[in-house]
Amino acid sequence: VTSGPTFEPLDPVRFLGNRSSGKQGHAIAEALALAGAQVTLVSGPVSEPPPRFVETVRIGTAQEMLDACLKALPVDIAVCAAAVADFRPEDVADKKIKKSGKDPMTVKLVQNPDILATLSQSNQRPKLVVGFAAETNDGMENAKAKLAKKGCDWLVLNDVGGGKVFGQENNIITLLKQNGSAETWPEMGKREVARGLVAEMAKLLKA
Ligand code: CTP
Repeated sequence: VTSGPTFEPLDPVRFLGNRSSGKQGHAIAEALALAGAQVTLVSGPVSEPPPRFVETVRIGTAQEMLDACLKALPVDIAVCAAAVADFRPEDVADKKIKKSGKDPMTVKLVQNPDILATLSQSNQRPKLVVGFAAETNDGMENAKAKLAKKGCDWLVLNDVGGGKVFGQENNIITLLKQNGSAETWPEMGKREVARGLVAEMAKLLKA
């Protein structure tokens, strides 16, 4: 299970990151462990405490998250709940960058590896790969396209428009599957969402 943000350094004191509390990912890791799974949680910088009964690997950057995920293979299930930074500064300064007058600054960004897509295409592909989509608009449309593009089996869509979801206790999700089904669940706590998803995973692995 991946969870939390990734922080991409710009210099020793600054980074590029994103809003993710890690609450949903951590809750899924814990729910899986309580259901009897052996769980590795690969977590970016969060204040959420490491869940019980789970091996937690702490990382900083997207590249470190990918390395930790590949090291954890083979697994039966991969859940990518992390809010990975899509880009990182191309150059990382080894000293704090100073202002030079009022000149505007340009930072060149390069793309980070896509962990979900890499796991979905791996020759050690897990039996079930679950991605998340945080969308502010046109959620269903974007989520369907993402499911096809990333090659995962399920996609959990949450609407993050207007400050919803990030850091909050509750979540409203739509679970989309490769077979075309899409089910919107009523609003519930992130722990309850986690238990629901784990129940679905157990059903699938049993079948
Ligand atoms: N993800 C990933 N590695 C990345 C970017 C995203 O593993 N470098 C995963 C996330 O963990 C999530 C899913 O991909 O499960 C979708 O993330 P999201 O940020 O919604 O999508 P992006 O691929 O970044 O697409 P876009 O920014 O264009 O919406």
